Amino acid sequence: MTRVAVVGATGNVGRVMLDVLAERSFPVDDLVLFASARSAGATVDGRPVHVLDDTADLSGIDIALFSAGGGTSREWAPRFVEHGAVVVDNSSAWRRDETVPLVVSEVNPHALRDHRGLIANPNCSTMQLMVALAPIHRAAGIERLIVSTYQSVSGTGKKALDELDAQTRADLSGGEMPDPEVYPDQIAFNVIGAAGNFADGDDHTDEERKMMFETRKILEDEAIGIAVTCVRVPVRVSHSEAVNVQTREAISAAQVRELLADAPGIALDEVPSPLRAAGRDEVFVGRVRDDASHPRAFSMWVVSDNLRKGAATNAVQIAELLAGDRASA
Ligand SMILES: NC(=O)c1ccc[n+]([C@@H]2O[C@H](COP(=O)([O-])OP(=O)(O)OC[C@H]3O[C@@H](n4cnc5c(N)ncnc54)[C@H](OP(=O)(O)O)[C@@H]3O)[C@@H](O)[C@H]2O)c1
Repeated sequence: MTRVAVVGATGNVGRVMLDVLAERSFPVDDLVLFASARSAGATVDGRPVHVLDDTADLSGIDIALFSAGGGTSREWAPRFVEHGAVVVDNSSAWRRDETVPLVVSEVNPHALRDHRGLIANPNCSTMQLMVALAPIHRAAGIERLIVSTYQSVSGTGKKALDELDAQTRADLSGGEMPDPEVYPDQIAFNVIGAAGNFADGDDHTDEERKMMFETRKILEDEAIGIAVTCVRVPVRVSHSEAVNVQTREAISAAQVRELLADAPGIALDEVPSPLRAAGRDEVFVGRVRDDASHPRAFSMWVVSDNLRKGAATNAVQIAELLAGDRASA
């Protein structure tokens, strides 16, 4: 009997989690959905949504998939663990905790061995980068990365998508442009050159800091140099990344293509696009080319659905690995 909880089931990621659990026929006997008091009385896919408050029944839950923001995870993930659940958390709340494994299913599943009930899912833009980079790091070692992201609006949640829609409608109909609320500037027909928020005194955004920290933790290599600019673009789903990779050993673009052709979770494409990646689980890699300005560098273009591999699919893949361990225990 496996009881699975989805916390944040009414959100962008939570809804995709429910789809992915069903598509992959994850063995669930009992699926319990949680959201905030705003969703009291709501249903998702015909299932009741329970409010996550002190009256919530946390007993008997084997696996809890959290995508309800950092505050909810900080408060509630330990409570689920105390009740015996293993939590896979999509927020950034626990990723920097040394006792919490940060896992990409194709890259470092071995890190799951040491979990203490809590496992962190990486940030969406880091996730797709890791799937593409891990085979290269294993083969040639990565010395330095220069990454520019083109991150979609769904990465900020459902309110951000509503903002994009409202601004787009206003612009096209000649109506009054609503003031931006989620982003610091209009997102429709625009580009925001700093995705994420600035902590006091920091000249990098939290999105950029996440990519730097999480890349080194997942690839288990603190020596990797990383220069990153995270940008928000008016795309609904799928993040794109222009990536320049400087390796420790020489590797040609042709060798990189060969490595990636056999790598799990990767699909090679000439010029991947967010629209074509949306709804798919693969990380699409294209435009792999030698960098003529450096003898050990190449560039590539990496695109993936941030709600699927960037969040829900990886969480369910981790749950599958955990369920496999439970079955063989
Ligand atoms: N979107 C992405 O690409 C992506 C990728 C990786 C990680 N993540 C992370 O996943 C989380 C959710 O992202 P999202 O895009 O799905 O956001 P979202 O669309 O805004 O959904 C947020 C969900 O969290 C629930 N929630 C909020 N406060 C809660 C509370 N106090 N107790 C219980 N549930 C609560 C909401 O319930 P109500 O409907 O009741 O408000 C909703 O179900 C965030 O931590 C985000 O950083 C997102």
